[in-house]
Amino acid sequence: MSALLSHAPSDGASAPAARGPSFVIGAGAEAFAAIASPDVNLAIWDRPVDAEVQAWLAEALPTFPSFEERLRLVDGVPDAGPMVAGLPQGPLRDRLAADLTHLARLLVGALPPGPALTIVASFGPVRDDLCRKFHVDWVALRLLTTWIGPGTEWLADADVDRSRLGPSAACPTEANRAVLRSPLAMRSARPGQVLLMKGEAWPGNAGRGLVHRSPPITPGDGSEAPPRLLLTITARAAEASVRQSRAVKRIIAPG
Ligand SMILES: [Fe+2]
Repeated sequence: MSALLSHAPSDGASAPAARGPSFVIGAGAEAFAAIASPDVNLAIWDRPVDAEVQAWLAEALPTFPSFEERLRLVDGVPDAGPMVAGLPQGPLRDRLAADLTHLARLLVGALPPGPALTIVASFGPVRDDLCRKFHVDWVALRLLTTWIGPGTEWLADADVDRSRLGPSAACPTEANRAVLRSPLAMRSARPGQVLLMKGEAWPGNAGRGLVHRSPPITPGDGSEAPPRLLLTITARAAEASVRQSRAVKRIIAPG
C-alpha cells in the first residue's frame, strides 16, 4: 500500500487559491493512480535506486548506446527490449529490461481514455542542461527517472507564477527567479525516484502542465561535467513524429 508522504506548498509564500494538492509522493507505484485527478500534475514513486544496476550502468556510461525511438507494443505491452539491446548481456541487463518494461506498462496504464497516443522512449546520457529554464512539456504524460547524477527539478503549482513562463530573453537565473514564488520552492528528484508528470496535452490540463527543468551542470573548474543517465517514456499525440519532437526539444525536453 502506498504511503502518501507530501502535498503541501513548500513555504508560506503568497499563492493562488489551490484547487487541491498538485502532487503526490508515495512509497509504491500505487501513487501513480493519483495522476487521474484533475488537481494532480505530478505523481512520484519514491523508490530507492537499484545500486547494483546503477553501478553497472556507470561502467557502461562512456560508450552508452543511447536509445530514442517509438516503443513497439506487443499484445498491448510496450517492448523495452530495444532500449537495452546495446548493453552487455547478463542478469543485470535482464533486471534492467524487466524494470523498464514495468515502468512503460505503468505509464500506459495511467493514460487517459481517448484517442491512442504514441509512446516514445529515450534512455541515455544527458551531457548538457539546455532545459535549465523552468518550462512545461507539450505532451500528454511523461514518466521520468534518473539513474545516475542529479534528478529533475520541479515545482508545486502553488509555488509557480505561470504568467512568467514561456520564451524569455532573460538569462536562466533571472527567468527562473521570476517563475518561483519563493526561492525555497524548488524541489529536486533523487536518482531512483520515478516521476509521472502531466504535460499541457493531457485532456483538460492546458495551462497546468508540471513546471520543471533540468538540473544545472556547472563543473566550475573548466572540466567536462559528468553526464546524467536519464530515462523518459512519453505519451504524446500520435500524429507527431519523433523528428518533430526533436525539433521542438527545447519545448518538450524531458528535464
Ligand atoms: Fe521538460
